[in-house]
Amino acid sequence: MSDKAIVEIDGNKHELPLIKGTENEVAIDIKALRSSTGGAITIDPGYKNTGSCESAITFLDGEKGILRYRGYSIEELAEKASFLEVAYLLIFGELPTGEELDKFYTDIKSHAVVDEDVKKIIDAFPKAAHPMGVLSSLTSALTAFNPSTVDVRNNDEMYNAIVKILGKFPVLVAWTMRKKQGLPLIYGDDNLSYVENVLKMMFKSPNSEYEQNPVLIDALNKLLILHADHEQNCSASTVRITGSSHAGLFVSLSAGISALWGPLHGGANQAVLEMLEAIKEDGGDTKKYMAKAKDKEDPFRLMGFGHRVYKNFDPRARIIKKAADEVLGDLGIEDPILDVAKGLEKEALEDQYFVDRKLYPNVDFYSGIIYRAMGIPVEMFTVMFALGRLPGWIAQWREMRLRKEPIGRPRQLYVGETYRPFKSLSER
Ligand code: CMC
Repeated sequence: MSDKAIVEIDGNKHELPLIKGTENEVAIDIKALRSSTGGAITIDPGYKNTGSCESAITFLDGEKGILRYRGYSIEELAEKASFLEVAYLLIFGELPTGEELDKFYTDIKSHAVVDEDVKKIIDAFPKAAHPMGVLSSLTSALTAFNPSTVDVRNNDEMYNAIVKILGKFPVLVAWTMRKKQGLPLIYGDDNLSYVENVLKMMFKSPNSEYEQNPVLIDALNKLLILHADHEQNCSASTVRITGSSHAGLFVSLSAGISALWGPLHGGANQAVLEMLEAIKEDGGDTKKYMAKAKDKEDPFRLMGFGHRVYKNFDPRARIIKKAADEVLGDLGIEDPILDVAKGLEKEALEDQYFVDRKLYPNVDFYSGIIYRAMGIPVEMFTVMFALGRLPGWIAQWREMRLRKEPIGRPRQLYVGETYRPFKSLSER
């Protein structure tokens, strides 16, 4: 294969180098395009063909349904690793030794409190506020209680910022839910694991001890790992581009949370469950909703279906579908929504519209069913996604800064009015 691409404009040929990734993916390096062509740019709304960076964190092959964090397959990690090991792997590049993991968790635990004044901010939110809005605000507000800038070249400063946010974020996650439910805002317990602490902080009732359930611990551990990173998706790109102005880590994460909230991204897990409920309430008429999803005049989409990159299957969805069966079985829950979901999936996979467009269930299709079985309210689903995605966002932010990426600032093709003289009010 040649090592360059040629662009021809007005008979002039411009050579652009090709670069290859470690998995043999090819990119045309257009860094010199504007200067060598005298101003031409590329245009690619939604960045469907545009690589925004070189990254060594996550590899995914949408055609083959492969997802790997730092080279390790998602299937193996979901089966064998703890969420904290995966967080360490994503952020620092290698699986931790026992000693590294112990230190990592001890340091995280030392930061698993937030300033009591944060409670005043939470109190000011109406109970009806969506937990994602609250979480994004609180994450940004953390900057007010902690130094806002981090010298990324200083390993200690960077490490401290990382363990700080990993310690404080689960507290904020739990508090967004407890605020909605009118429960006291509590802290975790240093004797518990990361995932056990999340569960306790979310579910402990004021007048009884919280009993850990191994089924829930295992399910949450798996879900967090499956959500931990997904290369340059909408929220990760938001975190990177926000941080590229040298905005601090916490505010960049807050921007990522806002991006995740949308129903085309992480907000889909809430939208899926609401859709499945609506179908059930409507008598389980999946055909009606399939027809709506295919009708171009109807804004309805089959939530939890389709993916920008996966065009064969989403490996996370396969793992989650199996986990949904196991968790509901272990907890002895029969949720009719699971049958609606399976029916809808079967129909969609046989439907020409979905086949032609390579639309398969994505990570959000079955995750809500597990969250619901765990007792997590539907408005918290995307918050749980954010909790899982936190290490991925941190890893993306850190990599972007360490690689000294320039400020993210796309070009545009202007299609508005050309120059026109100002008209005074009386002339308009
Ligand atoms: N239901 C019905 N039609 C769909 C759907 C869907 N869920 N998804 C895509 N299509 C159609 C779309 O209308 C288009 O048809 P046509 O070629 O006739 O115009 C074609 O499939 C290609 O879709 P697209 O919107 O150009 O694809 P995209 O890569 O820009 O969007 C997506 C990807 C995930 C935003 C989209 O598939 C979607 O809206 N899905 C539903 C929301 C969802 O489940 N989001 C979670 C994504 S995975 C987790 C995450 O990112 O957080």
